[in-house]
Amino acid sequence: MKRVHNEQRDHARQQAPPVPPELTKDSTHEDRGLYSNGVLAKGGSVREIPELIEAYVADLKKRALIKSAAVEHAFRRVSRHRLLEGFYREDEQGEHQYGTTRFAWRKSNPDSPDPDLLRIVYSDTPVLTRLSPPSSTSQPYLVARMLELLELEQGMNVLEIGAGTGYNAALIQEIVGKTGHVTTLDIQADVVEQTTRLLKAAGYRRIEVIAKDGAMGHAENAPYDRIVATVGCSDVSSRWVEQLAERGFMLIPLQHGAEGFDPLTRIWVEEERVLGRFVGWSGFMSIRGALESEQRLSFEKQEQVSAGPPQAELPVVSVSEEIERIFGRTWNERTEDEQARYLDFPLFLAVSGWDVFWTKEGSGLWHRRGGVVVGKHKVLVHGDVSLVQDLQSLCAEWVELGRPGHADWRLEFQRRADAAELPGGEGTWTIERKFSTEVARLEKP
Ligand SMILES: C[S@@+](CC[C@H](N)C(=O)[O-])C[C@H]1O[C@@H](n2cnc3c(N)ncnc32)[C@H](O)[C@@H]1O
Repeated sequence: MKRVHNEQRDHARQQAPPVPPELTKDSTHEDRGLYSNGVLAKGGSVREIPELIEAYVADLKKRALIKSAAVEHAFRRVSRHRLLEGFYREDEQGEHQYGTTRFAWRKSNPDSPDPDLLRIVYSDTPVLTRLSPPSSTSQPYLVARMLELLELEQGMNVLEIGAGTGYNAALIQEIVGKTGHVTTLDIQADVVEQTTRLLKAAGYRRIEVIAKDGAMGHAENAPYDRIVATVGCSDVSSRWVEQLAERGFMLIPLQHGAEGFDPLTRIWVEEERVLGRFVGWSGFMSIRGALESEQRLSFEKQEQVSAGPPQAELPVVSVSEEIERIFGRTWNERTEDEQARYLDFPLFLAVSGWDVFWTKEGSGLWHRRGGVVVGKHKVLVHGDVSLVQDLQSLCAEWVELGRPGHADWRLEFQRRADAAELPGGEGTWTIERKFSTEVARLEKP
């Protein structure tokens, strides 16, 4: 991706050097403590499975992640543990190394699950099922939020990119019912074999699980009322656009810079134009295959940015109060309003050509000349110290624009070859993706 604010070409960004995709975190949110761990992670004895599911659903409802009766019913119906034959757990003594983290593998029988697995599976935790290449069942808060955003109805035809364990596909099947249809694609053949087998055993025989690169979509079952990706996508595939039903829409975690910074983007076609808007947040592992992008700042690179000694260590007062308020405090120290609006400025930075990510020391912001980590008490600069000044200028611009949030952006996508026809110019930001150009503008300045 190459991103250019059309009013500020000096902020034009040259991508970070390509690094092989690494690390497998499906969600950085949990690590950042953005969301509570859910009732079960707090300990206590393993109760009967129906009770566990009840408490798990109650927690997602209490946090307003499950909102509709249809999504609630689906979460009650699908047993997440039945789709798992084991999982990777972070464990310093574990025999598997991935990135800088060690993992241990724990086997589990879907018919007689390990009590520890049950406790994890029915808490708000992503569960890693493959390390290299990675696969997982996503964090339930995100699964619930995306299902609500999909506005599914009985009888709909749905395509999912990223089958993983099939948990999300089974939830969708429950909502679209017998008259609806679910096709789910995964690029890993062994994942597809296992998921097909476990879905069948759990009673979901009608879901079509297909081994292929999701970038191609699946024309055989098109047109789709909904296309949803459960993997971070570097671009919008033109095949998805072709395979979308009239009045249908897609929900895509669309990478904006760093791996794991994937605003949830609703995309639809209107009078032959491909339009979009941001509708929420997510942090997924990156897509592989045709849509794989070497240009995004990988999890591994993110770790490296803050690993070495910084060029400069400044007191946190060296950045404006606004930046300190956004980045320099922990989640719990923020007011509710600040929590709700926390990602608004990071998104503005991402559209303007910065990569935003999270490190142990604080929020990491990467630009072509280096990185800045804004922590609680200090600002660490890795690379060019003048980046701090650039960050201040962008923050001042964002404040002047009225602190736009994710809902204020309007997006349009076009294949690169045809992008000259896109309305650009003043007040727009351009992101050059692998196959398409995205033009973003603010609806209310
Ligand atoms: C986060 S997991 C999906 C979680 C899943 N929806 C669930 O409910 O368990 C992401 C999956 O995307 C798959 N994937 C990566 N690139 C892909 C591609 N180009 N096409 C299809 N699947 C892909 C990975 O193999 C992985 O299984």
